[in-house]
Amino acid sequence: MAHFTKATSVKDWLNQRLAVDKVEKVMASEYWIPKNINFLWAMGMVLLITFSLLLCSGIFLLMYYVPTVEGAFYSVNYTIMREVGFGWLWRHIHGVAASVVFLIMYIHMFTGIYYGSYKKGREMIWLSGMLLFIAFSTEAFSGYMLPWGQMSYWAGMVITNLFAGGSLHADGLVEWIRGDYVPAQAFLGRFFMLHVVLVPVAILGLIGLHFAALRIPHVNNQDGEEIDFEAESKKYLAGDKAGSKVMRFANDFLSKDMMVVGIYLLFFFYLVFYNYGFAMDPVNFDPADGLKTPAHIYPEWYFLWSYEILRPFPIDTGLVLFGLAQGIFVALPFLDRSPNAVPASRRGLFKIWFWAMLCNMILLTSMGKLPPEGIFSQIGLVSAILFVVLWVLLPIITTFEKKL
Ligand code: HEM
Repeated sequence: MAHFTKATSVKDWLNQRLAVDKVEKVMASEYWIPKNINFLWAMGMVLLITFSLLLCSGIFLLMYYVPTVEGAFYSVNYTIMREVGFGWLWRHIHGVAASVVFLIMYIHMFTGIYYGSYKKGREMIWLSGMLLFIAFSTEAFSGYMLPWGQMSYWAGMVITNLFAGGSLHADGLVEWIRGDYVPAQAFLGRFFMLHVVLVPVAILGLIGLHFAALRIPHVNNQDGEEIDFEAESKKYLAGDKAGSKVMRFANDFLSKDMMVVGIYLLFFFYLVFYNYGFAMDPVNFDPADGLKTPAHIYPEWYFLWSYEILRPFPIDTGLVLFGLAQGIFVALPFLDRSPNAVPASRRGLFKIWFWAMLCNMILLTSMGKLPPEGIFSQIGLVSAILFVVLWVLLPIITTFEKKL
């Protein structure tokens, strides 16, 4: 057993048992961050704060939510929205945060792509990030089922139908997932469990993994500079703070982050109080009715780009491409064959690839919201084909990229 002495303070007592000083050094005061980064590097912290808001508001909603097909709609739209003091506020915070978290996640992802922050040594950061994206997608979809409105029911029906695998007709699998022939009590109970227990626990674990994956390769920087963290941190500790290329995570980097977080929260609470409607589909204010199909069934905005890849093709091709679209970003560190971890602006053809991919995904998102008719379906088809072509081109153009 280790040797323990009489503690001289609470901190000393904790130090002997938990090595809090060491943990604080490794994770905060001697966690070195490059100085040459911009506000886009605050998005990780913005995501963490948004997730905390989701967790906190979700706990309050959970106190009154009733997970039954008879009670769910009224517990949300009547009990929480009208009877419970400030229930509307928790619901607005939860709804707005669920939507905004995807916007920030996309910004965070595309920042990583632009600066090549997934390259050699940083693959685990990227992979854990993608697992977080998948976990958040599951969390958002399962949450969308809970108010048991028309869109909950019909989006649940459409998405679970995808598991039939088109002409494979795996209807048994769809029934197994639903626990019934159609979305009903078993379905709601399962998605409720996923939303409030399994997925949030997985997200907490994945956030831990994401942070741990950052510790050894360190955060990237906006100039693609190879920083000698050991030498630069020694300079900092020796007192040359201005000359060193790095700063401490806490409190230097954190105070900069908090400034961005402050501005973000102003925007966030503006949405919560004055513009929450964008995060709630009007059709979902009608209770679920299995006999009345809504005219247009579409997912929330953050899933529209992949929905638009599914839609313009015959069912089997559409399903294969949809599956590909879901998984392909995971493979990015292995498909980008260039060793250059520098901003896209200095990477020749990759710069064009980056902007083409970003604009195309915005176009796919816009088309996904519109009915698949006339010119919209043609634009959607071209856009979906371009998405696939861009991924096929990526390993080719990056193999021939000049080494910088
Ligand atoms: C709730 C989800 C997430 C949280 C809380 C989170 C948090 C963070 C934090 C705090 C950082 C360090 C500072 C920064 O660069 O912002 C970071 C870096 C990073 N994250 Fe995330 N992240 C999340 C989701 C994602 C997703 C979906 C991806 C995409 C796959 C991703 C990829 C990355 C990458 C590549 C870096 C390294 C950036 C660099 O080295 O410059 N993260 N993340």
